[in-house]
Amino acid sequence: MYRVGVIGTGVVGSAVAILLQDKGHKVTGLYSKTGISAANLAGRLGCTTFANPEQVLGYAEVIFLTTPDSELDYIVSLLAESGLVKEKHHFFHMSGALPAEVLVPLREQGGNICSLHPLQSFAGIEQALVNLPGSFFSVQGDAAAMKTAYRLVADLEGVSFDIRSEDKPLYHLGAVVASNYFVALIHFVLQIYNSIGISEDEAIGALLPLIKGTLSNIEEIGTVKALTGPVARGDFGIIEAHLRAISKLPHSYIDLYKTLGRYTVQIALEKGSIDETQTNLLLKLFSEGDGSNAEQQDYHI
Ligand SMILES: NC(=O)c1ccc[n+]([C@@H]2O[C@H](COP(=O)([O-])OP(=O)(O)OC[C@H]3O[C@@H](n4cnc5c(N)ncnc54)[C@H](OP(=O)(O)O)[C@@H]3O)[C@@H](O)[C@H]2O)c1
Repeated sequence: MYRVGVIGTGVVGSAVAILLQDKGHKVTGLYSKTGISAANLAGRLGCTTFANPEQVLGYAEVIFLTTPDSELDYIVSLLAESGLVKEKHHFFHMSGALPAEVLVPLREQGGNICSLHPLQSFAGIEQALVNLPGSFFSVQGDAAAMKTAYRLVADLEGVSFDIRSEDKPLYHLGAVVASNYFVALIHFVLQIYNSIGISEDEAIGALLPLIKGTLSNIEEIGTVKALTGPVARGDFGIIEAHLRAISKLPHSYIDLYKTLGRYTVQIALEKGSIDETQTNLLLKLFSEGDGSNAEQQDYHI
């Protein structure tokens, strides 16, 4: 059982605290900027809130720094300068992009530091409580703190994996594309459907079986074999019809459609469903009118 303190009791900090206390750990102290989220969580967990972040250190060995990433430097300086950091303290931030090394001032004061990132998207505390179990967590930092991280992840019913400090920006970029840009992609489709009079609710209802079916195909057979549609078939006529239709919509839509089209052509080539000649013709079609020269560019993926 660890005594757990949380500085930054927003979506992630609150959900982690609730789940760890459910698993027998003791949440002993909370701090948040306005105090409102900390007070709400304290009411739920029956623990104390503090007026200053450094007070959390007196009552916990495991300390989550779950503020926005941009606030971490400030909080780390405050804690490091407090003179209260001890060897028993294991500090965790949960940023995907930042390495454990942003916590180095705490290590210099004797603490153990670690980055512990849930590869998951949390829109609110209740969704996070549902989504956290079963999630994967990247772990990077000091050996002692990483050992504690593995135990905490197991208690959160997650799966931990190690990551190198220098790989975190690209690792996080991948997560952003898979989650945030996926949301953007569906938003893009909803705008297109809206332009032909299909409401957002109707469109989501109609698209979800397609999206779920596609995800299931990716899970079963991988992305290359899962690719279907006009690009995979090398169907120029259909793609020309798409380009004529989308030309009536905002230019940013055309750019996005063409950029995704060019990337998809390379997957079709890798699948073997189109040959080199079809590849070049499709790349040209997806580049016409945007000033780029498909054949001179390196589209290898
Ligand atoms: N949300 C996600 O999907 C997700 C996924 C993976 C990782 N993460 C990471 O998890 C961490 C927390 O993100 P979040 O989404 O939980 O953020 P959030 O919901 O915006 O919560 C941030 C919390 O930090 C507090 N805070 C802000 N400035 C502070 C300061 N100077 N001192 C102390 N507390 C401060 C806020 O206090 P008040 O409540 O008083 O305003 C709030 O409780 C970030 O590192 C983020 O990158 C988030």
